[in-house]
Amino acid sequence: YNLLHRLLIWLTTMKSSFHVSAALRVTMRDSSLEAVRGDSVLLPCSFFTSSDFSRLNVIWTLAPFSSPVSPVQVIVYDHGQVIKNPSLIGRVDFTGLPFSADIMLNETRVSDGGIYRCMVNNPPDTADPGVGELLLSVLEPPSLPVCEWDGAIDVGGSVRLSCSVEEGVPIPEIRWEKVNPEEISLPVNMEGELSGSVQIANVSSQTSGLYRCSATNVLGTENCYVNLVIYNSEGLCVLLTLVMVLVLLALLVIILWLHRTGQDGRSRRRRRDRKAEEEECYNEIRYTPSLMKRSFV
Ligand SMILES: *[C@@H]1O[C@H](CO)[C@@H](O)[C@H](O)[C@H]1NC(C)=O
Ligand SMILES: *[C@@H]1O[C@H](CO)[C@@H](O)[C@H](O)[C@H]1NC(C)=O
Repeated sequence: YNLLHRLLIWLTTMKSSFHVSAALRVTMRDSSLEAVRGDSVLLPCSFFTSSDFSRLNVIWTLAPFSSPVSPVQVIVYDHGQVIKNPSLIGRVDFTGLPFSADIMLNETRVSDGGIYRCMVNNPPDTADPGVGELLLSVLEPPSLPVCEWDGAIDVGGSVRLSCSVEEGVPIPEIRWEKVNPEEISLPVNMEGELSGSVQIANVSSQTSGLYRCSATNVLGTENCYVNLVIYNSEGLCVLLTLVMVLVLLALLVIILWLHRTGQDGRSRRRRRDRKAEEEECYNEIRYTPSLMKRSFV
């Protein structure tokens, strides 16, 4: 800042000593700003001019971090009129016209982050320089991560715990820990920036417990949990056998019951079928003459 100040003094002395024609000069009071998503932020842009403001023209553009090569117009002041980018109406406005080109951005979003450029013209002043730049970062806390597990949860098997988070600026750091019955920090394999997993091979009953994944950045931490229960294969076999016996018994009961109701139903249906056949015959006899009659008319 000190250097900039000295440069400005130097420029001013240069101008006065060489009698350069009046020049408009833009200065940014900050070169980078941080806002938390949802907050308002003031983007400062001051200028010094020696002409009146009748032909003042201000243009703010944004080169978003998501597409830095295609800047968009944010807000324009021209011929006393303010024109806003339709996607920003209600969120952006000048705060000090015509004496400053500061703008206020409300309800900031992560997508508002990028390089803002403030361009000021005030003919007949020449711009020197008429442009200022500032970098805006919109931070957001991590969203709730999603914990998942897959693999074999019986003794000797291999289990993979995975955790992914969708939002967060700066990008949240992902950590896995076992928190119960003892606290152990686990090595994380990152899969991309937003998800990390832990591989546990040859699991035993000691592997059972509560595992926590945490996603952390400067704005906070969010956690999700997995409760792993490792089954002893023998115990599992006994359990499975028990379950299968129960299922078989249930099936047997159902089959017996179906058999009984099936017999009942069939005899009832047979009776109904016979009755329907009788009716059909009767209908034929009854309707055929009328049809014939009608076709002769
Ligand atoms: C932004 O918020 C400030 C203070 O809450 C308010 O005075 C201003 O009118 C708002 N600007 C816009 C464009 O809504
Ligand atoms: C798996 O663990 C058991 C006991 O914890 C050990 O005896 C066995 O050697 C291990 N097997 C492998 C393949 O590491």
